[in-house]
Amino acid sequence: MSQPVRYETRDSVAVITLDNPPVNALSLALRTGVRDAVRKAIEDDAIDAIVLTGAGKMFSGGADIREFDSGASNQSPNLPELIALVEDSPKPVVAALHGTSLGGGCELPLGCHARVAASGSQVGLPEVPLGLVPGAGGTQRLPRIIGVQAALDAIVTGKFLSADKAQKLGLVDEVVDRGGDLLGAAVALAGRLAATGKPPARTRDREEKLAEARGQPDLFGQARNETAKRMRGFEAPQACIDCVEAAVTKPFAAGLAFERETFQRLRTSEQSRAQRHAFFAEREARKVRGVGPDTKELTIRRGAVLGCGTMGGGIAMCFANAGIPAVVTESEQAALDRGVATIRKNYESTVSKGRMSAADAEARIALIEPTLDFDRVADADIVIEAVFESMALKKDIFGRLDRLCRPDAIMATNTSSLDVNEIAATTSRPEQVVGTHFFSPANVMKLLEIVRGEKTSPEVLATTLTLAKRLGKVGVVVGVCDSFAANRMLYPYTRQAQFLLEEGALPEQVDRVIYEFGFPMGPFAVGDLAGIDVGYKVRQHRPRPEGLRSSEIADELYHMGRYGQKTGKGWYRYEKGSRTPVSDPEVTQLIVRASKELGIERRAISDEEM
Ligand SMILES: NC(=O)c1ccc[n+]([C@@H]2O[C@H](COP(=O)([O-])OP(=O)(O)OC[C@H]3O[C@@H](n4cnc5c(N)ncnc54)[C@H](O)[C@@H]3O)[C@@H](O)[C@H]2O)c1
Repeated sequence: MSQPVRYETRDSVAVITLDNPPVNALSLALRTGVRDAVRKAIEDDAIDAIVLTGAGKMFSGGADIREFDSGASNQSPNLPELIALVEDSPKPVVAALHGTSLGGGCELPLGCHARVAASGSQVGLPEVPLGLVPGAGGTQRLPRIIGVQAALDAIVTGKFLSADKAQKLGLVDEVVDRGGDLLGAAVALAGRLAATGKPPARTRDREEKLAEARGQPDLFGQARNETAKRMRGFEAPQACIDCVEAAVTKPFAAGLAFERETFQRLRTSEQSRAQRHAFFAEREARKVRGVGPDTKELTIRRGAVLGCGTMGGGIAMCFANAGIPAVVTESEQAALDRGVATIRKNYESTVSKGRMSAADAEARIALIEPTLDFDRVADADIVIEAVFESMALKKDIFGRLDRLCRPDAIMATNTSSLDVNEIAATTSRPEQVVGTHFFSPANVMKLLEIVRGEKTSPEVLATTLTLAKRLGKVGVVVGVCDSFAANRMLYPYTRQAQFLLEEGALPEQVDRVIYEFGFPMGPFAVGDLAGIDVGYKVRQHRPRPEGLRSSEIADELYHMGRYGQKTGKGWYRYEKGSRTPVSDPEVTQLIVRASKELGIERRAISDEEM
């Protein structure tokens, strides 16, 4: 086995290099190696100071997350023990940071006596997305270095700080320009600190920034309220606030113990296990058969969108938001005007909420070129078709695209239910055809299903995956099949939700339970938003899986003209101009009657059962 830690000396400075590819994860073997190397440097009289640095593309990506499940993260030396050893070193320890220094890979430098960072590098404590709090002193040391408010901002959101921002906040002592000698700068700083002859200043002893926060009693209450709104239902962000508060109210050792306890509690919690599962699942989803680092990618400079309806308009906005110019075509002027007006309204609403400047919005709108001239697709590197869901129409369109598009252009369809292979077969180059299944609203929703046809080329897939990232989406490659992945998961969910109605529940109860579980909306509120008529039409051409019964209540709503928010009535009633669902006795009657007709005796259903 190769050693995960290297030890070298530069004059009287020991250079300890983390070398555990690919991300210098702080595994047990690496922690043991660093501990032994630090001890060796402390014991060697010829050594005055120590530098910690990382080999490869970053200082460290942090803990080995798989050790959280096995419990190996607790094995000695665990990270808190290692950091205590570094902080207590009688010889100054300087961290040299490049690439990214995340989680434990940021907490270790926080325990050092100074930090030097390469320009363009980033540091951060991104435990929150994994349902955790930093578990090795991050919540206790970061506020001591950069102040309580800045530490809350960084820890609760898990956002990364650039080297420059970190320097402004005092987290980094020096930034070395691109191409400069990072290690040399760290060695020089370590030497200067040693030359002062003073014992190294320990982060844990720094009190000034905490004292400032003690004069602001509302700080934590405010943070809790804001976080409760922004990250509803999540335990970890609130637990981070508790830990930072402990840094202010408790002595260092007690604060550290509180943080460790909180970390251990969350590590085994359902939420964190689920979030870690999702984290690994997302990474797994990025591995695509036949696509690798060597796969050639096409360059996407210009896009085209066919259809400027609900989806096409949103997709055009995605291009504009990513700075990619795109034409958007329609079959009629009126439809084009309507679509463009909606795009404009969406941007104006963002501006009015203060989330974008008016100039920025105009610049984005200017990247979208509305036209009735279909031939304009000839300039595009990728064309995304988002016209009505009709095979005949899509076949016609792809035949025309085949004649117009450049040979290397990607021809994509946003179909939600049609066979991408059949669409591709109408062209002379099915390898250039792919499905890009956006979700409504397309400019907001992060998921993008990338539908791989039988003949889709690896280059087209790789390019579409990269484009997804540029558009701010999570691209997930799926096969050609009924409803792809996301909608296919949705069907049993809505089907069971409707069975709950037949068995004794009402829409408002189901929606409340699902909302409290953490979803932004319950299934019935979603039904009213998406349109009862839309679901009805999908059911008409989608054969029901053999032997599966579905509730017919939704069909009845459709026949009553209750299409949801758009008609002011659906599963709920809506006051004019309002999107707030109000229970409707007419729907209750309908549901009770359905149970009776099915011979089901209605019963009370608990939240847990739902
Ligand atoms: N609405 C959704 O939630 C959703 C989600 C994912 C995928 N989709 C799929 O996206 C596609 C579009 O759906 P939508 O909801 O945006 O429909 P929509 O009816 O809102 O928009 C379709 C637009 O295409 C235009 N159009 C029709 N023929 C055209 C042509 N020959 N050239 C140019 N434009 C033409 C229409 O005028 C209309 O504006 C469908 O394939 C649908 O299945 C929809």
